Amino acid sequence: MRHFNIAIDGPAGAGKSTIAKAAAKKLGFIYVDTGAMYRAMAVYFLDRGIGSQEEEKIREACNSAEITIRHEDGRQQVFLNGENVSGRIRTQEVGEMASRISVYLPVREKLVKLQQQLAKTSQVIMDGRDIGTCVLPDAQAKIYLTASTRVRAERRLKELLEKGLECSLEEIEEEIKERDYRDMHREQSPLRQAEDAVLLDTSQMDPEQVTERIIAIAKERGLEI
Ligand code: DC
Repeated sequence: MRHFNIAIDGPAGAGKSTIAKAAAKKLGFIYVDTGAMYRAMAVYFLDRGIGSQEEEKIREACNSAEITIRHEDGRQQVFLNGENVSGRIRTQEVGEMASRISVYLPVREKLVKLQQQLAKTSQVIMDGRDIGTCVLPDAQAKIYLTASTRVRAERRLKELLEKGLECSLEEIEEEIKERDYRDMHREQSPLRQAEDAVLLDTSQMDPEQVTERIIAIAKERGLEI
């Protein structure tokens, strides 16, 4: 039997992971955070002092970095050569590096294979940049989640302040714009809305409303619950 899969794409800070996690819990699906895999690869290169421009070294290193995913109590854990790096991947530095190294084909091919395998074994809600367009082109429900750069920057600032980190809204907004540009204009699988994806602008919506809307879309596309 083919599993029902839900693909969620969109730019950084649109709320993809919060929403996908909540929807996965309500639907009993497995949540797959593909950004975490690119971040784990970024950690591998950072640990070895490999720069984001060093394409040849990155290509070689792809063969020796093993990324595995496990779910513990419904939460995704990402392992890099056996080490659980789920905590280490959540920094600004790693996010930036992930965006830079995700432009390389060998990195993408390696991770896309892993993502497709996961979607074959269970019903997944998978979020990323190229899920609806490349990873799961046959996903039954596709959503393109976005919000204005200002709203995304405000959400990010709130998270940083809660962690006790100082930062300016303007600085964050600038970084978000740069990251959007890179993710949308790279040659390999750029971020874009799939033709059959539903566009959801979450600027004026709260997370519960967005989650309910996604569940409604999945039902409209044939999910029986
Ligand atoms: O979603 P995130 O911020 O954790 O992702 C970090 C970077 O990884 C993002 O800027 C681009 C890259 N990425 C990608 O190229 N394709 C994906 N499916 C997921 C993330």
